[in-house]
Amino acid sequence: MAAARAHWGSRFGFVLAAAGSAVGLGNLWKFPYITWENNGGAFVIVYLVAILVLGLPIMMAEILIGRRAQLSAVPAFEKLGGKGWSIVGWLGVASGTTILSYYMVIAGWSVRSFYQCLVWSFTSYTPPAEGDFGAFLANAPLQIGLTAIFSVATAFIVYRGIGGGIEKATKIMMPVLIIILLYLVGTALTLDGRDEALSMLFTPHFDQLPAKGYLEAVGHAFFTLSLGLGAMIVYGSYIGKKESIFGAAAWVVVLDTLFALFAAIAMFTIILSVPEMQDRMSGSTMGMLFITLPDLFYTNMPGGRILAPAFFILVGFAALSSTISLGEVITSLMIDKKGWSRPKATIICAGGVFVGSILAALSLGAVEPLSSFELIEGKPGVLATLDHMAANWMLPLGGLGITIFVGWFLGRKNAMEELGITKPSLPFTIWIWCLRIVAPAAIIALLVAVAIGKDFS
Ligand code: PHE
Repeated sequence: MAAARAHWGSRFGFVLAAAGSAVGLGNLWKFPYITWENNGGAFVIVYLVAILVLGLPIMMAEILIGRRAQLSAVPAFEKLGGKGWSIVGWLGVASGTTILSYYMVIAGWSVRSFYQCLVWSFTSYTPPAEGDFGAFLANAPLQIGLTAIFSVATAFIVYRGIGGGIEKATKIMMPVLIIILLYLVGTALTLDGRDEALSMLFTPHFDQLPAKGYLEAVGHAFFTLSLGLGAMIVYGSYIGKKESIFGAAAWVVVLDTLFALFAAIAMFTIILSVPEMQDRMSGSTMGMLFITLPDLFYTNMPGGRILAPAFFILVGFAALSSTISLGEVITSLMIDKKGWSRPKATIICAGGVFVGSILAALSLGAVEPLSSFELIEGKPGVLATLDHMAANWMLPLGGLGITIFVGWFLGRKNAMEELGITKPSLPFTIWIWCLRIVAPAAIIALLVAVAIGKDFS
């Protein structure tokens, strides 16, 4: 581990690697579809508040823990807080394993979309029939095969260590992705559905937001910023001592939020502009990213034939820079705690996660009880259940542990020292009370309210 304690090349290096972890399927795939399912506006507001009140302070807290301890999550908690606190780190590892096992499946869809777009670009575009995506989801060998491709790619990079590779790769990929996304939004906004889309996204109707929507918004704030499981603790441990933690965290939060909002604007506009789109999506809002965008590329966008395959490559890369950070959380723990070599840790962890992935991959219509059991109302099947459990319960719980730890146990002096200030300033006071009271109270209230089945609307 000592040898691995390298530092990012610059703050920019950290911001892009951390943004690479944060920006992923959560922004491009999940945010638009859960926003759609929760009827837009009010959900977006709750999400933005959660990002500001929980996301930013907790992101700073995680980076601070990592940089202070110079270790990954479990040993960092042990070093700074004693054995008992390591349970927060272990919970994070469990969340990481859970998320990774279904994230790989969705990431695999980008490989299929890439291939499909390549064919369309070389021949001509024929809009897929209604039900096409459902049939794809129910195709067991294809789902498992695509998941396997993604699992191997992730394992390969984690196996080689993330140092030069991922920092360099994200430096190139992230700006390209931003440019393509801006172009996408710009084009989408020329379509007829623009006004309806913007009003659906930005006019809040709280009576239309179901109670579970609040939990989902908060859970998604954790998920999209890669918080609550120690990923930012690991990445933070590689930040130089002179860098501003607030500055680094703020950059990541802003970039991540813009990605999510742009993706949602593009997709909502297309759905509301193309009359058959709602039929094609029916039954699988989950597939929104993969169903809606090709239509825009091929029917409304100059240069779409080139951009379509390029876009899905980038979706794959955005997912990969997230799976790597998740993989690193699990693998580095085995290296630290069990003393395994990196190759051994990578292979065993990847194998274990892949077993979970197979169950998730088969739960989209291929194998019956796996696809239809409903542990959580409205979330049938293994994949949706794992996603709901990890994002909405496990990450907020992990985040709760982190806020209480930094707010109450780490000590103001330690926190101030790490933030590079000598006297408590106003922003510091706001931050620390946010961690002490506001964030924990909000998380607890929400978890309890949803657990006892309260409806806020
Ligand atoms: N933040 C990633 C995304 O939005 C997912 C992720 C969650 C990555 C937790 C790492 C840790 O896609």
